[in-house]
Amino acid sequence: MKEPVDPGIIKSSSRLRNASTNDASFLTDSTPNVLAGIDESGCTRAVLFFRDQEITRADHVAFASRFGDLEDHPVANTVPGYPGLIEIYKSEKRDHFENTYHSDASWRPNPPKGAVLRCISCPEVGGDTIWVNMVEAYKNLPDDIKAKIEGLRAKHGIEHSFGAVMTAEEREELVRKYPLVDHPVVRTHPETGEKILYVGPFSTHFINYHTPKNVRFGQDKTPGASLLLNYLISQAAIPEYQVRFRWEPGSVAIWDNMATQHYAVSDYWPAPRRMERATIMGDRPF
Ligand SMILES: [Fe+2]
Repeated sequence: MKEPVDPGIIKSSSRLRNASTNDASFLTDSTPNVLAGIDESGCTRAVLFFRDQEITRADHVAFASRFGDLEDHPVANTVPGYPGLIEIYKSEKRDHFENTYHSDASWRPNPPKGAVLRCISCPEVGGDTIWVNMVEAYKNLPDDIKAKIEGLRAKHGIEHSFGAVMTAEEREELVRKYPLVDHPVVRTHPETGEKILYVGPFSTHFINYHTPKNVRFGQDKTPGASLLLNYLISQAAIPEYQVRFRWEPGSVAIWDNMATQHYAVSDYWPAPRRMERATIMGDRPF
């Protein structure tokens, strides 16, 4: 296997850029700590890019499995014969869900800690993916906001995203299987101890905001809490925290799904794009 590469077209100061490791070969020497930590240059090791990887689906699954058990997705198809490997295939059918800044599956009680995404085929132009360093996003929040959100928790759900195109009955079934879960608004990275801003488009509302300190009148409660939540969610869109990767067939990205969010730019319709993702199970955020 070849070594990690610089994202190339993007020179980012997001402290997220090609957090390359000294592990020379991706399939034989990488260890779980590749995914988390701070490298020698102070960059968060939160996303790694590799080009021209001639690997099979079995290699992909075997590599990702070294980081932990893999999980499928309730809506995306699993690649037949490869449990833990899901299809993210786009065609002329317009069904984009990934063009929003998000951390994968935060609607799970134990959201995935990471993922390995491989490009099978992609449009010649377009279809980039953006990753965001949510440790930096937290660090740069104003002090009064940091104080306000300390100890705050938010609900996360699948219903209003993947469920939106389902029938009411299908949606009910989805919610029965995946009820709302609550997570800290600021989670702590289990390996680095860093604080991470952990709200996104799956977040629905705060659950412990309605205290005498925060709420004098109703306006403070519903509009006030929702404005604060939306302000926090909007931080992922700040380019200073981002890196953008241009895909080629054979490119692979590995990311820490706890410390980052990502956005798959859907600017290539109706051209096809075929990606496959192995998703690594995580633990309960704290
Ligand atoms: Fe995603």
